[in-house]
Amino acid sequence: MENKIIKIENISKFFNRGQHNEVRAVDDVTFSIERNTINLLKGPSGSGKTTLLSILSCLSKPTSGNYICLNEIVNRWPEKHLTSFRQTHIGTVFQEFNLISDMTTLYNICIPLISRNIRFSKIEKRAMILAENLKIKHRLHYKIDTLSGGEKQRVAIARALINDPEILFADEPTAHLDSKLAGEITEIFKTLKKMGKTIVIASHDPLMEDKGFIDHVFAMHDGKLVD
Ligand SMILES: Nc1ncnc2c1ncn2[C@@H]1O[C@H](COP(=O)(O)OP(=O)(O)OP(=O)(O)O)[C@@H](O)[C@H]1O
Ligand SMILES: [Mg+2]
Repeated sequence: MENKIIKIENISKFFNRGQHNEVRAVDDVTFSIERNTINLLKGPSGSGKTTLLSILSCLSKPTSGNYICLNEIVNRWPEKHLTSFRQTHIGTVFQEFNLISDMTTLYNICIPLISRNIRFSKIEKRAMILAENLKIKHRLHYKIDTLSGGEKQRVAIARALINDPEILFADEPTAHLDSKLAGEITEIFKTLKKMGKTIVIASHDPLMEDKGFIDHVFAMHDGKLVD
């Protein structure tokens, strides 16, 4: 089995290209990620972490460069194909959660599978197991806007895992949490690695690297990968 689950080659993402306000959010980045590892994408605010994660999550296309995921050159695919690839293989925890605040925890966890012609009882069963593992089962029938920051973070992780993805991308997963809760989220990532998942975490928290569970660190600055 190919050990590199992700390869990116000379990936760039420019916003407002060719205009006076052009931003080189990701600028000629090349690296690869090994299967079943936990990776940290670190760098100061504005260095391009979220932009790169959105490309890796197949949520946006690079301006140039190749993105090879699970041996497929995904950046060449049309949108429809990309969506189905993402739904099958990728889970994403967004920096701002992107949860629907006036819907329940259960509904939010189930969302990625709801439009996919799968029986709701089956989706619900899986959501219950995830909620149990992530210690939010007691909140399943509460609306998101009644949950604490730590609970919302767990819901966002559960939603990202509902499709049982091989790869999980988590953008600033501990940013809203105190150190105890951040430690609990760390434990969740360790468990997911034991289950065989590959994890990429973006974080500007300098302490993240010291937690001892990261296999590889990639540092970004001004859109570029630095040593
Ligand atoms: N849609 C957009 N249009 C124009 N510029 C953008 C857009 N999205 C991001 N940027 C710019 O790209 C750069 C990288 O932003 P990005 O959100 O990727 O950084 P980040 O490393 O995730 O920062 P943070 O640590 O604050 O989350 C920033 O200068 C940002 O202002
Ligand atoms: Mg960000």
